[in-house]
Amino acid sequence: MQTIDATVIAREKTAVAEAAAQRVEPRMLVGLGSGSTALKLVDALGERVAAGLEFVAVATSEQTAARARRWDIPLITGPVPPRIDLVIDGADEFDAELRLVKGGGGMLLREKIVASAADRMLVMVDHTKRVEALGAFPLPVEVVPMARARVKHHLRRLKLAPELRRTADGQPFTTDEGNVILDCHIGRIERPAALAATLAGVPGVVEHGLFLDLADEVLMAVGDEIEVFTRG
Ligand code: A5P
Repeated sequence: MQTIDATVIAREKTAVAEAAAQRVEPRMLVGLGSGSTALKLVDALGERVAAGLEFVAVATSEQTAARARRWDIPLITGPVPPRIDLVIDGADEFDAELRLVKGGGGMLLREKIVASAADRMLVMVDHTKRVEALGAFPLPVEVVPMARARVKHHLRRLKLAPELRRTADGQPFTTDEGNVILDCHIGRIERPAALAATLAGVPGVVEHGLFLDLADEVLMAVGDEIEVFTRG
């Protein structure tokens, strides 16, 4: 099995986040994604704000919001505005059609709401995130807590192998919205759009981590290089 050097990945995340931060222009309304790459993006943008850049942000998680506040990046709180210029976020997987799996950090609901409001979605990833077919990464499904047993049963019958996400101390993981996550160990997803439609129709499912037709561009760091993929 191929071993992946964690320091190489960390360096790639920093490089791609710094490249993505250059895409923010003065006076833009920007969605800030979540996860380790997104935190590096916030740091890179914070440096630009300290140097005089002015823009306003919408955070996709409490963690990202806290980091943005540290840098005095102005944040819109409350309802997400109906239109955002640009969202910049990480991903757990992407394929040749720029379809994504997201939600490894459990912030998929806010991430998808902000992405759906954005004119453009820019994705930043290290080289391990590119896949030939989605599904090797367990697909997160966010579920209303009272529906958790019923939805798990339903997804098991669909052969999606759901598993309740737990914290390190064994408690059910809770999202920023107070929901739980079922991680589905599906393997290769042959028809992502059909699966997305199926999941959206299950009562109790709030959102799932398939981001289809949302990403416009992916920046992928490979060592010191940044590769750019654009949706045709
Ligand atoms: C958060 O819920 C996720 O969607 C992240 O964007 C995704 O897990 C990528 O995270 P990293 O940037 O930490 O790899």
